[in-house]
Amino acid sequence: RLEKVWLAIGIAMLFVFLGVIGISAFALGTQPPSEHHHMIDPTKVKEIAPFDQPGIHQVGRKEYEAVIISFAFGYTTGPKEQPVMKVPAGSTVHFTVTSTDVVHGFEIPGTNVNMMLVPGEVSQVTHTFKEKGEYLILCNEYCGIAHEAMMTKIIVE
Ligand code: CUA
Repeated sequence: RLEKVWLAIGIAMLFVFLGVIGISAFALGTQPPSEHHHMIDPTKVKEIAPFDQPGIHQVGRKEYEAVIISFAFGYTTGPKEQPVMKVPAGSTVHFTVTSTDVVHGFEIPGTNVNMMLVPGEVSQVTHTFKEKGEYLILCNEYCGIAHEAMMTKIIVE
């Protein structure tokens, strides 16, 4: 008798759990319009354009593309000679980001930039930096032992 009650509770919990997964999948599938995704081979990221040339590239007047590769536990934001991203105040930056290994996050606190980086997926978002300053870029998806230390920055001067 008691077993049947527990079985019923167990089944009910399972349905609640599946429901939550379904709702999260639906929520994740609904991205803001400024953001979009396409697929690449995560093991060949460094050979595939534009990730063969990571870093900040000027594409117009006060308009830049920032090509970034994420990995456990950091971000490649440029070539060895110029690893730091810098743009003038007022610049519009198109971020193009991917992951070579596991799911990472890409959040710029104080802005609306907040993406999930899925290996094999290219994630893009655009932001205009009106104010000067150093903007932190953080991983907000738990990705392993050094997750808390996974961060970089973009300097707006
Ligand atoms: Cu990468 Cu957390």
